[in-house]
This record gives sequence, C-alpha cells and structure tokens, in this order.
Amino acid sequence: MTKFSLFFLTVIGALFVYGTRDVPQTDLDEDKTEREVLRRHREKDPRFIKYENVHLWWDNVPASITETGLNHEFQTNIHPDDYAGPESCKACHAKNHKTWSQHPHRWMNALADTSTVKGDFSGDASISYLGGMGTFYREGEEYRMGLDRERDNVRRVYAITQTIGSRFYQYYVGKQLEGPEPDSHDFYKTDHVLPFGYWLDAKEWVPVVHVGDEGELPDGIRADPFAINTIEFHPYATRCNYCHTTFPLADMFIRDAALVSQYAPAPVHFSMSNYLADAHPSVWDGTQYTSDLSNEAVDQVVQQVHNFEAPQHAVTLGISCEACHLGSKQHVRQKLTPP
Ligand code: HEC
Ligand code: HEC
Ligand code: HEC
Repeated sequence: MTKFSLFFLTVIGALFVYGTRDVPQTDLDEDKTEREVLRRHREKDPRFIKYENVHLWWDNVPASITETGLNHEFQTNIHPDDYAGPESCKACHAKNHKTWSQHPHRWMNALADTSTVKGDFSGDASISYLGGMGTFYREGEEYRMGLDRERDNVRRVYAITQTIGSRFYQYYVGKQLEGPEPDSHDFYKTDHVLPFGYWLDAKEWVPVVHVGDEGELPDGIRADPFAINTIEFHPYATRCNYCHTTFPLADMFIRDAALVSQYAPAPVHFSMSNYLADAHPSVWDGTQYTSDLSNEAVDQVVQQVHNFEAPQHAVTLGISCEACHLGSKQHVRQKLTPP
C-alpha cells in the first residue's frame, strides 16, 4: 500500500528508482544507446496527459512537482484495495444502507436477473419500428431481445447481461447471439447498449434515445437498428459505465480524466505508470522502462483501462456508498477513522 500511497491526491509524488528495474537485454549496442538517449530525454521531459486540473504522468512526475506539492504519503482512499463495498457498511449504518437500497442510484446498473429486470419479457410484448419488429422473451433463466425485419431478411438475437436504470426507463446491455455480421464481430463479444428499452410508467417498449452522439432525433433520421451497415455500436464500458457504476477513483483518473477534472478544485498530479504497475499489473507491470513504450503503446495501455468492464473491475454496478464517500476500508476496520 505504501508504494501506491506516494502518489495520490492533491499532489502525487512518484518514485522512479531506475537502477533497480529489470530491463530486457538487447544484443544491439546501437539500439541500446538509442534507448538510453531516449530514457534520459524522457527523464527530463516526461510525457503526460492533461485535462484542466488533472495531469496523468507517464514517464515520471517532475521534481518541480514532487518537491513543492502536498504529498499524502501514508494515506489513500482511492486505490481499489481501499474500497470495502456497500455490504460492509450495513452493520453500523443500517438506515443509510436501507434508504440507499431503495434509491435509484443503487439500481442505475445491475446484472440482469429476476430481482433487477423490470421490462416485460413475458413474450407477449413487442414493438413495431421502422418496418421491423422487436420481441422480448425468456429462454430458461435468461433474457432475450429479438429483432426481425422480413423485407431485408434481417434477424438479430441478443442475450441480455445487465440493466441500466429503474426510475423512468430501463435500458439493457448485452451481446449479440445471432445476426447478419460474421462471428468475429465485436457485437458477439462486447457488452453494448441494446436498441430497445422499457418505459416503466407507460409499460411499453421504446427505441433508446440519447445514446449516440446525435442526441434525440426523429425516427427515420435516428440510426436504424435493423439496418446491417449503419446500426450503431455503443460499448457499455467506454460509453456509459463510468457514470452508471462505482469504480475506484484512481481508475477513474485514467478512465475519464475529463470527467474527474470537472471536480478537481486544485491541480492534481497522478503517476499513471506507477499506479498501474501497483494496481493493474496485467495492463502494465512496470518491468520495462516507461520510455521504451512508444506514444501509441502508451495510448493502448490507457485504452485498456477505458475498456474496463464493470463486472470485473468496478466496486459495484450502480452507484454505491463509496462513489461519494470514497474508499472506506480503513473506516470499516476502525470506525473512528473517518471515511
Ligand atoms: C464498525 C462500524 C462501522 C462500519 C462498518 C462503518 N461505519 Fe461509518 N461510521 C461509524 C461510526 C461509529 C461513525 C460516527 C463516527 C463519528 O461520529 O466520528 C461513522 C460515520 C460515518 C460517516 C460520517 C462521517 C462524518 O464525518 O460525519 C460516513 C460518511 C460513514 N460513516 C460512511 C461509512 C461507509 C461508506 C461505510 C462502509 C464502507 C461505513 N461507514 C462503515 C461506524 C461504522
Ligand atoms: C456523464 C455521465 C453519464 C454517462 C456517460 C451516461 N449516463 Fe445515463 N444517466 C446519467 C445520470 C446522471 C442519469 C440520471 C438522470 C436523472 O435521473 O435525472 C442518467 C440516467 C440514465 C437513464 C435513465 C435511468 C432511469 O432510472 O430512468 C438511462 C436509461 C441511461 N442513463 C442510459 C445511459 C446509457 C445507455 C449510457 C451510455 C450510452 C449512459 N446513460 C451514459 C449519467 C450518465
Ligand atoms: C450519491 C452520493 C452518496 C451515496 C451513494 C451515499 N452517500 Fe452517504 N452521504 C452523502 C453526502 C453528500 C452526505 C452528507 C450530507 C448529509 O448529511 O445528508 C452523506 C452522509 C452520510 C453519513 C453521515 C450522515 C448520516 O446520514 O448519518 C453517513 C453515515 C453516510 N452518508 C453513509 C452512507 C452509506 C453507508 C452509504 C451506502 C449504503 C452512503 N452513505 C451512500 C453522499 C452519499
């Protein structure tokens, strides 16, 4: 924990002890010199990503910052290890837990099951839209959405994995099981927003709105979910889950620095490479020199964090206690330590 605690909050001090790192040996002296030159260059001129007050450093955090900034050395409440989950608050804060459990925040996103799905999947409900038909039904324990349009012989079947919302609308996230695209297509592999949602008060199925960049457009101009080439693809991880779920704040720095920067009252410097090596070694394990990675390779590292699926990486689906109170594990262990 102390390794990470060096580099969070107001100013994040990062230590790079280059000498102790394992560096892959290369036979080519020329290549080696080039790498050393680049290494010295990056040390002096480290790469970073900046959104307003939020700075994500890749190669190192410059001394001008580590020497003058506030360094919260032995405390962290934003690392994944600092989060305890809402069930751990229940014993002492039964009332908060109960009111939260009934709050829409709790249900902003959930795994699809009989306790969370509110749409009509009885098989009796359907929607006619743009000459096609949407159907909603169960297959054993699972929930399915079907799309058919005879005139162009299109049929799609989706397996529903997650729900979004419980208040006015419930939208669905899932993967395609059957469709005109080849098997290798992302529709079959990546959880994405499905084309129809349920309007809870009216008890009817409706096309989803405000999902694409275009906002709300009339039918006919909006993307046609039956069309083969123009159907929209909105992966849930990169488009929606950073607002509808609870991720450790440290992950959020990388996942959506622009969003976090809106709430950063003072400059925040975050050592992205050090954090990843500590918290997500499968993304970047820190055994290479940071300078050995090209800009494209750094982008790929960042992209992997953008792609984090909530069921694997979030504290909870939905918005839970620590989305607002931050990682409270210390407080759970020792209730007089403030959350
Ligand atoms: C072992 C019992 C216990 C557990 C578990 C616990 N708390 Fe607390 N919590 C307390 C007590 C006692 C206080 C009041 C402390 C005080 O007044 O200084 C408190 C106070 C708080 C406060 C108010 C702090 C303030 O400054 O007024 C928040 C917020 C809070 N807890 C959040 C949480 C969250 C979130 C969790 C679960 C991750 C949690 N607590 C788990 C016992 C607990
Ligand atoms: C920048 C944050 C943010 C992003 C990104 C985001 N949402 Fe939301 N979403 C919200 C907020 C906040 C609300 C609550 C609005 C309210 O209740 O007044 C909401 C509400 C909803 C609701 C209505 C829920 C209900 O209970 O009635 C649905 C459905 C929804 N969003 C779907 C999506 C989908 C699909 C995506 C991705 C394409 C997405 N959202 C991306 C912040 C976001
Ligand atoms: C959407 C943000 C948000 C969520 C989610 C949230 N809280 Fe809070 N909580 C706050 C804010 C803001 C305050 C201070 C304002 C107030 O006292 O109403 C607060 C106050 C508290 C307090 C001290 C005042 C009181 O009500 O006793 C406790 C304890 C607390 N929260 C525990 C929890 C627990 C436990 C959960 C999850 C079961 C939770 N909170 C979920 C934002 C949130």
